[in-house]
Amino acid sequence: MRRPDVHPRTPRSTASSPRRMRRLRTTPSVRDLFAEIRGSPARLVYPVFLRPAAGRPEPIPSLPGLLRYGTDTVGALAKELVREGIPAVLLFGLPRRKEVDGHEAWAADSSVVRAIRSIRRAAPDLVIWTDVCLCSYTQHGHCGILRGKEIDNDATVERLGRISVAHARAGADFVAPSAMMDHQVAGIRAALDAAGFDATGIAAYAAKFASAFYGPFREAADSTPSFGDRRGYQLDPRNGREALQELELDAEEGADVLIVKPALPALDVIARARPEFPHPIAAYQVSGEYAMIRAAADRGWLEERAAVTETMHAIHRAGADLMITYFARDLARWSREGR
Ligand code: PBG
Repeated sequence: MRRPDVHPRTPRSTASSPRRMRRLRTTPSVRDLFAEIRGSPARLVYPVFLRPAAGRPEPIPSLPGLLRYGTDTVGALAKELVREGIPAVLLFGLPRRKEVDGHEAWAADSSVVRAIRSIRRAAPDLVIWTDVCLCSYTQHGHCGILRGKEIDNDATVERLGRISVAHARAGADFVAPSAMMDHQVAGIRAALDAAGFDATGIAAYAAKFASAFYGPFREAADSTPSFGDRRGYQLDPRNGREALQELELDAEEGADVLIVKPALPALDVIARARPEFPHPIAAYQVSGEYAMIRAAADRGWLEERAAVTETMHAIHRAGADLMITYFARDLARWSREGR
């Protein structure tokens, strides 16, 4: 029987065996030796925004410090990332033209497909994840096919399957469905297998909250819904148990990696999920989490390196194996620079 009133670290008897208070002599190397967590770029996934076509990298106003890459120049970036020790990218595409059904998303020459090809040529070992959603491809900015003002779940899942196959055919290692449709993982798994891509993995955005912290991303990906919001398909931030249920469903449907998003506002979900699933868990530190720290650091209110590093440790401590973060290149640089 558990005795919740007894703190496990309280010594039982202080009278007969008094504990001597002492501290080990610590140096930075001793602290490193015993640190539970070792920051390393080897656990980072870097999100990359693509321009609709070729062209030089251009700044993203809502994400200062980040660039949107042309489908030809992304190869050079890939080489740099490998040199920096960053093992993986997560690609976000933009179409040349937004359509009602967002069909450029599954085109054989979409920005994502062209980028995958140029990354594969430039950096064969970089692991490629691709975001699979419709929101940046549709005129209305919702994550699926609309029927009236409602999302048609099954029609959307069918399109997500087509997008995934297009990405897998170009050479993506993992597709990352982020539309939060029901049964999207099962649908995508079946589509990939039917097309002969059974070795392509699914990194499922399984627990994705309807978060205010996606604001800067929507500007970067031009994907703000033209009416309504995403609360019909994303999770209510008040519901932790429901988040665990979503993780469970995606695991059952065949997800290879479970993504929790956002990261700091959902540390409890990561920590509760950790002992329940053998899957790698990836935490997505989203655009608003990046923007908060960047903005405060720019004003001199926070020390950027210390603050970012602390968030990484917290996310890692909660149980995440991988961190998807816009700070990946900064973290790699800081780790090269040493303490
Ligand atoms: C697409 C998608 C979004 C993000 C990742 N994939 C936006 C959204 O759901 O509105 C957010 C990422 C970020 O904020 O960094 N559905």
